[in-house]
Amino acid sequence: MTEHTEKYVAAIDQGTTSSRCIIFGHDGAIVAVDQREHRQIFPKPGWVEHDATEIWSKVQAVVAGALAKAGLRADQLSALGITNQRETTVLWDRATGKPVHHAIVWQDTRTAQLCAELGGTDGQDRFREATGLPLASYFSGPKAAWLLDEVPGLRARAERGEIAFGTIDSWLIWNLTGGIDGGVHVTDVTNAGRTMLMNLSTLQWDPAILSAMRVPEAMLPEIRSSAEVYGTAVGQLHGVPVASALGDQQAAVFGQTCYGVGEAKNTYGTGSFLLLNTGNRPVPSKSGLLTTMGYQLGGEAPVYCLEGSIAITGALVQWLRDQLGIIASAAEIEPLAASVPDNGGAYIVPAFSGLFAPYWRSDARGVITGLTGFVTKAHLARAVLEATSWQTREVVDAMYQDSGVRITQLKVDGGMTANSLLMQHQADVLGVPVIRPVIPETTCLGAAYAAGLATGVWQDLDELRTHWQRDAEWTPRMDGQTRDREYGNWRKAVERSFGWLA
Ligand code: G3P
Repeated sequence: MTEHTEKYVAAIDQGTTSSRCIIFGHDGAIVAVDQREHRQIFPKPGWVEHDATEIWSKVQAVVAGALAKAGLRADQLSALGITNQRETTVLWDRATGKPVHHAIVWQDTRTAQLCAELGGTDGQDRFREATGLPLASYFSGPKAAWLLDEVPGLRARAERGEIAFGTIDSWLIWNLTGGIDGGVHVTDVTNAGRTMLMNLSTLQWDPAILSAMRVPEAMLPEIRSSAEVYGTAVGQLHGVPVASALGDQQAAVFGQTCYGVGEAKNTYGTGSFLLLNTGNRPVPSKSGLLTTMGYQLGGEAPVYCLEGSIAITGALVQWLRDQLGIIASAAEIEPLAASVPDNGGAYIVPAFSGLFAPYWRSDARGVITGLTGFVTKAHLARAVLEATSWQTREVVDAMYQDSGVRITQLKVDGGMTANSLLMQHQADVLGVPVIRPVIPETTCLGAAYAAGLATGVWQDLDELRTHWQRDAEWTPRMDGQTRDREYGNWRKAVERSFGWLA
């Protein structure tokens, strides 16, 4: 085994479909990666659950896998960073360490009715000023409220302090730092900000909202910054400081080094999430975006973002593969789509979980429009890819309306950026260059950077900026007339997706 003298930083990315551990060197380069998928549980249409115990064991397995591939011991890691699928809600018993129910995943729509009731006469924006978020089934608070109502006896146990609430970051940090033997129960501002229970200005749980949602404070974790040592790991990572936590989209902002006001990134995963750094003040949205935390480094002033959240992008490719069987692997979509010059008139609006930004319509369901006998599976493959770029165009337009900032380029990352046809279409429909960095694993990288800053591996943001390098760039080629005509068609298709539950 090679003897390493350098110190390394590990990051765990617990995502919607899989968990990954990546170990980075001091120059930000990847030393080793390990990844494992976990089960998606669909008990009813619109319901999506995960087994948090399975997630914890997959996380332990990928940590072991990455260490083995790197040929490293835990004592050679300077720090561990955590990043995670946001909003997904776990409630567990503090005494046994066991979840009381499957985790309710961010995509799950079971709380749509509860959210409508919570809105009352104030409607969807009842908590927007305090939290930056519209009332929607996406966020964790209503998911916790649903569990407290539905699991027999749970509310009383939660009020007695026997139950812990967490987004996935809290669940992992608690387990990593000892679980029932003294695990720390914390979350960071980026994750807490997605519960709809945190006040964006005070960065604390908002008592009025807790009371409106009937969520007992006794079950909530302590809210901390995104980069500080929360505790020390036990077990296979014995002694490693757990030194960052960021929701995955905020971690990507950090890994893409979007540290200046006006810098934006789009991550293409299960869904796509475009975040624009708006500096130290939250910018309210009037155009269907979220006002959300970017990051907070220790005691420094927090950084806020505007976010355009799109629920389904990569998941539509999976649907084409797993539910329709049109392709055998996700990689097959690109040659199939490239075998035709255009979408043949077909548009697919993947409103599987309703539509998120900029519409926030829980009554939306997926539609395919423009079908004629001419349309083939290749046209549908193209329409699947284009659904991602058109949805992104809509959030970029909303960003401009809210912030007055017209993006001049888009930094991209995530699995779908390997698809050149999609990236070209993205540049075409935005009319600006799309740029991918050399290290596309920006989510893990961001968590590693934050953990490394908290433990002195890296000195400051300027040092991290020097790591960012361009790998590929796509420049717009579509003429304006075609773009406007097709965008009009897309918008008509979106309108057809509304109203299916009314
Ligand atoms: O808000 C949901 C988001 O954090 C999920 O990201 O990459 O796990 O699909 P991902």
